Amino acid sequence: MTDPNLIAGIEHCDDAGVYKLSDDLALIQTVDFFTPIVDDPYTFGQVAVANALSDVYAMGGKPLTALNIICFPINTMDISILQDVLRGGLEKMREGGVLLLGGHSVEDDEMKYGLSVTGIIDPKKVLLNRGARAGDLLVLTKPIGTGIINTALKAKMAPDELVEKAIQSMAELNKKAADLMSSCVHIHACTDVTGFGLLGHAAEMIEESDVGIVLFSNRLPLFTEIKEFVEMGILPAGLYRNRKYREHMVDQRSTCPDWIMDALYDPQTSGGLLLSLHRSEAESLIKAMHAEGIKDAAIIGEIVRETSNRIIVE
Ligand code: CO
Ligand code: CO
Repeated sequence: MTDPNLIAGIEHCDDAGVYKLSDDLALIQTVDFFTPIVDDPYTFGQVAVANALSDVYAMGGKPLTALNIICFPINTMDISILQDVLRGGLEKMREGGVLLLGGHSVEDDEMKYGLSVTGIIDPKKVLLNRGARAGDLLVLTKPIGTGIINTALKAKMAPDELVEKAIQSMAELNKKAADLMSSCVHIHACTDVTGFGLLGHAAEMIEESDVGIVLFSNRLPLFTEIKEFVEMGILPAGLYRNRKYREHMVDQRSTCPDWIMDALYDPQTSGGLLLSLHRSEAESLIKAMHAEGIKDAAIIGEIVRETSNRIIVE
């Protein structure tokens, strides 16, 4: 079934659904919730909300309202934990200018939290996760490696300082990056980097197209501390799945170290925005991002015509 007002639906795994209401207004809808990935309930609430709002920012939209989704083991867990989660979440929503309208909770063996988010966008300005063009540069706005750090944390091997850095990154809204992006006129694809890892989300940008990607492994923003964990084999299960799913599209050049290849498949929580834009706009966007405190934003690759449907990591 097709609807003439449907702009983005379930077909292409876009970050959110988009439905046109009028010539200059479309609705963006998305839902995301998960089990705690950090110990501190307040921080978990913040990360869960930053993650849920991110899909609206990735479409180029503005999140307006949200509903809480809560699963909680009320008989075995202290209610104050839930209160802290919700407080962290609410503060992030305020920071994003998003109004909480309500929500729903169910009893469950394991806590889960997240949001259903509604946003708006000009239908002519919707950014999809595909459509990268030859000559574009690829920009990434947050460092990668949070999945590996979370795995090291569970193994009690991650130093506090590193965990703190990763948490700060995950709790950071992609709002500022999206605001700055909106002044560019030639963004041809955008997505946020989450569970499929950088290579998985990059692959979506060129899949079934006539272009390919060259990734610059030496320019990648990443938590360099993860090298040690990768070399010890402390890797999340999702990393192996991501690799298995996408490695047929990927060529590693000898200039890219093995540990960085692992990082490229690392599933991220609340990762940065990955965007493909005309090269004339990339340098000034990066400068503006650095000036606004998005210090890790970097040009990490380019879109080429020579190797269609493939990602060369050099
Ligand atoms: Co997404
Ligand atoms: Co253009």
